[in-house]
Amino acid sequence: MPRFAYVNGRFVRHADAAVHIEDRGYQFADGIYEVWSVMGGRLGDAPGHFARLERSLGELRIAAPMSLAALKVVLAETVRRNRLREGLIYLQITRGVAPRDHPFPDPPPLPAIVITAKAVDPAVGEARAAAGIAVITVPESRWARCDIKTIALLPNVLAKQAAREAGAAEAWFVDDLGLVTEGGSSNAWIVDSEGKLRTRDIQANILRGVTRATLLALAADCGLAVEERPFSVAEARSAREAFITGAGALVMPVTRIDGHLVGGGVPGAVAQRLRRLYIDQARSSFDEAGSSPAKPR
Ligand SMILES: Cc1ncc(COP(=O)(O)O)c(C=O)c1O
Repeated sequence: MPRFAYVNGRFVRHADAAVHIEDRGYQFADGIYEVWSVMGGRLGDAPGHFARLERSLGELRIAAPMSLAALKVVLAETVRRNRLREGLIYLQITRGVAPRDHPFPDPPPLPAIVITAKAVDPAVGEARAAAGIAVITVPESRWARCDIKTIALLPNVLAKQAAREAGAAEAWFVDDLGLVTEGGSSNAWIVDSEGKLRTRDIQANILRGVTRATLLALAADCGLAVEERPFSVAEARSAREAFITGAGALVMPVTRIDGHLVGGGVPGAVAQRLRRLYIDQARSSFDEAGSSPAKPR
């Protein structure tokens, strides 16, 4: 089955998809992105991702390339053309193509948009969740606007490569005070020694994870004690449980931090329960996108 990408108004074969060499995303990382899980052919946890997309564009003063309604149609069509049932949708919007010069081009070029789809076997995620993953910790080295989901991800790339070389699946950034901020592509959580769920507050320099926000609400609904409060690496190592959240990982138990076992080295009951609850919730909170309203062209 060929894969199709959406590039600036057209669906093209993924293998042939290309952007201009003077795209500002390519030259300056001057753009933003968004990632949705796809579950049962529908965008998981969709509204939060649309809201963050709008916010990211606003923070960088990049115009939306189309209306939200049109974008939902294009996303649904991307899902449909790729016959995607389970996987991920990646969307990237850059300031557009212009002769290389740091300030914003004037007049502004049309923003450039790319959407790709990737199938992911849910059994792989389930197997990882059943085993738990390892994380390493690395010094925080990112800029001060991690709340914007920009495509400038070099510190994250380096951190995640360090994790891979250490046999781990994620790297947790740790600030100057020894407190965990978040992962290279996920938010970080623990169930502390008192049984409280803890994750960093969004006043900190972190991405406001959509999965994180949904899970906070779900956990509160379940009557779990939740605190948006920083935790140290030492607290994480001695926590009852640890886990990460994100559109790719969903809710993924962590069983090892820097080689130290967490929770006896087995996925915790709270993380496993929250994973099930989150997946059920995400599957039921789909938007129009994914319901394939568009006809094939
Ligand atoms: C740095 C970072 N933090 C957190 C997340 C989790 O965000 P979300 O739950 O919206 O996918 C991501 C996801 O890509 C990320 O890159």
